[in-house]
Amino acid sequence: IYHLAAILSTKAEKDPFQAHQVNVEGFINLVKTAMIYTDYIKFFFPSSIAVYYLNDKNIPPFREDLYCNPNNIYGCNKLYCEKLGVYFSQFSKESNKFDFRSIRFSGIISATTLPTGGTSDYASEIIHSAIQNKNYSCFVNKNSKIPFMAMPDAIDSIIKIMTTERKNLTQSIYHIKAFNPSVKEIYAKIKNKFPQFKLTYNINKDRQRLVDSWPSDIDDSKARKDWGWSPIYDFD
Ligand code: SER
Repeated sequence: IYHLAAILSTKAEKDPFQAHQVNVEGFINLVKTAMIYTDYIKFFFPSSIAVYYLNDKNIPPFREDLYCNPNNIYGCNKLYCEKLGVYFSQFSKESNKFDFRSIRFSGIISATTLPTGGTSDYASEIIHSAIQNKNYSCFVNKNSKIPFMAMPDAIDSIIKIMTTERKNLTQSIYHIKAFNPSVKEIYAKIKNKFPQFKLTYNINKDRQRLVDSWPSDIDDSKARKDWGWSPIYDFD
């Protein structure tokens, strides 16, 4: 099972009860169905850097087990589902039936699709606006910085973690990143290709609060070592 459906972080803040219903109850319904109707199932769950809460953006890159105190409902939902996945795959009576694997994604940038309802959406929106000869009003400030990756690498990471032998996975949950530019670095990069493109700012304080509490960098060495995470697409 690849359980990708979720309400993303910005939209989740607008109706936390609906977010819980979709993000947590949707997850547990699938887990329960899998446990009832299969003898053995591999279950992939995309988690998020929204599980982290940092009060200092300069904290050096860290491993998966630190700073897991989310300040947003989407992060709470993701962290709790991770915990349920670990419980059912390691501690429950039927743990041998359930093989749970999860990646905490950062922002994912697609060449073809715009995300909706997320907080990392600004990077995709900047790029897609420039390509369509539109200017862009950014909802977070120029120093905002979180990790990103390109969609083909995100897909490849899911295939890689799901096809790795279980004995090689030293943990069930991994975070990964490919590059981590600030908004002003994205703007400068885009300007090289689209000199007419203009970026202005109209800060949304709720979305800024989330981005400010997420890490600007992470240490993804565990994913690189255990299942060969190695992104093809860099910032260029
Ligand atoms: N990209 C997601 C969001 O912005 C976080 O995982 O909601």
